[in-house]
Amino acid sequence: MRDIENIVVLTGAGISAESGLATFRGPDGLWEGHRVEDVCTPEALAANPALVHRFYDARRAALAQVRPNAAHDALARLDRVWTGDLLIVTQNVDDLHERAGATRMLHMHGELLSALCAACGTRMPWAGDMHDRLTCPACAAPALRPDIVFFGEMPYQMERIDAAIATCDLFVSIGTSGAVYPAAGFVRTARHHGAATLELNLDPSASSIYFDRTRIGPAGTLVPAWVNEMLGGIA
Ligand code: OAD
Repeated sequence: MRDIENIVVLTGAGISAESGLATFRGPDGLWEGHRVEDVCTPEALAANPALVHRFYDARRAALAQVRPNAAHDALARLDRVWTGDLLIVTQNVDDLHERAGATRMLHMHGELLSALCAACGTRMPWAGDMHDRLTCPACAAPALRPDIVFFGEMPYQMERIDAAIATCDLFVSIGTSGAVYPAAGFVRTARHHGAATLELNLDPSASSIYFDRTRIGPAGTLVPAWVNEMLGGIA
């Protein structure tokens, strides 16, 4: 790890599991009998907005009951101390990385605590429940929706992510099943550009074969240990 300067970390639902947030594809992955792929779509929002809002309202409300865990804390420490480039790309729509103190990060799948106007594109902080035909304060269209990237929509900030992956020396994936693209393909892009690749996950994932190394275990244990290795004796 001595020659590493630039790091990209990809996180998924597994990093927040020990905080008490359900993952998408675990044993508790079904929600009211629906697969996530059937709820998180523009078509579902148009056909059954109450269902989609209920899904995200429940997740937004759950944020008040949870706290960052040791894995979020360790990444925030890496963010504070690491002198090379670092980008934490999270697929998570919770705010646990920020609450732990991470700043060099982005939400590629959107955020629960944000609303998006489908008419004018304005984003705004959002804390409470949502319902159909909420009025946008910027353009007055009844078009507010969760600021979440639905299946079939383009993830946020892909140019910035691609640029960071193309120049990183180490790509680390934490707590993600490797089931959803484009994030699932980042490891191959990183390898293509010559980066070392490391996966930290509770189980082998669909992408494990593409990593130089996979460490199996809970993020709350593996991530602090890895950050300690990276930072050595630095406080
Ligand atoms: P998944 O639910 O698909 O996968 C979670 C992964 O975390 C699995 O591989 C688990 O083995 C692992 N895991 C569970 N508990 C863990 C722990 N304590 N420590 C480490 N790993 C653990 O979640 P994602 O891969 O994040 O999209 O799902 C990707 C996207 O699919 C999500 O961002 C979401 C969903 O549809 C949107 O919301 C747009």
